[in-house]
Amino acid sequence: MAQFKVAVIVGSNRRESLNKMLARALIKLGAPGVEFRTVQIDDLPIYNQDNEGNLPASVVRFKSEIAAADALLFVTPEHSRSIPTVLKNAVDWGARPWGKNSWTGKLAAVTGTSPGAISTALAQQHLRQILGAQGVVLMGGETYIAFKQGLIAADGTVTDDSTRGFLKSFLDQFASLVARFAAPSRAAA
Ligand SMILES: Cc1cc2nc3c(=O)[nH]c(=O)nc-3n(C[C@H](O)[C@H](O)[C@H](O)COP(=O)(O)O)c2cc1C
Repeated sequence: MAQFKVAVIVGSNRRESLNKMLARALIKLGAPGVEFRTVQIDDLPIYNQDNEGNLPASVVRFKSEIAAADALLFVTPEHSRSIPTVLKNAVDWGARPWGKNSWTGKLAAVTGTSPGAISTALAQQHLRQILGAQGVVLMGGETYIAFKQGLIAADGTVTDDSTRGFLKSFLDQFASLVARFAAPSRAAA
């Protein structure tokens, strides 16, 4: 039985998103002791500090899902050599209101895919910088997936053996870190 909950945050609001496909493939590969839950971010309104006093329902839901997670898995595209607007918007809502930062002290891993030559390397670097400033503890290493047609089948299977093995070891490493990170804080609670 899964002991730990990992919230999966995909930085794309596109219906046929490659990163949604990658997230599905990761969830299908799975990791020991971990239950993955995708968290919706495309229903969050554009961040506006005027709304902090009366948070929109979608923001309340989003922040409670982050709070309930033992760890976070970000799967992001790269837009203009940074993270997409929809993801930055979610990060900003998570960080606010002041004193109610949903990110602080969370463990996270980052990956993402793009058909570009350097995949999502720069978006991931920006995301690490942004999350680090919010107090997120980030798993090290680099998991850039260069997307090729047919890499992920319709049922979420990663068709290339080498990429599948690479993603599986990424998930296993994350799961072992989640167990080491989350178990002591549960015991102390
Ligand atoms: C506004 C915009 C900016 C983009 N900038 C980049 C970029 O900087 N680097 C990159 O590799 N791909 C870039 N792309 C191409 C994306 O990698 C491609 O659209 C990919 O499918 C987006 O991921 P998604 O399918 O999960 O939404 C950009 C696409 C858009 C729409």
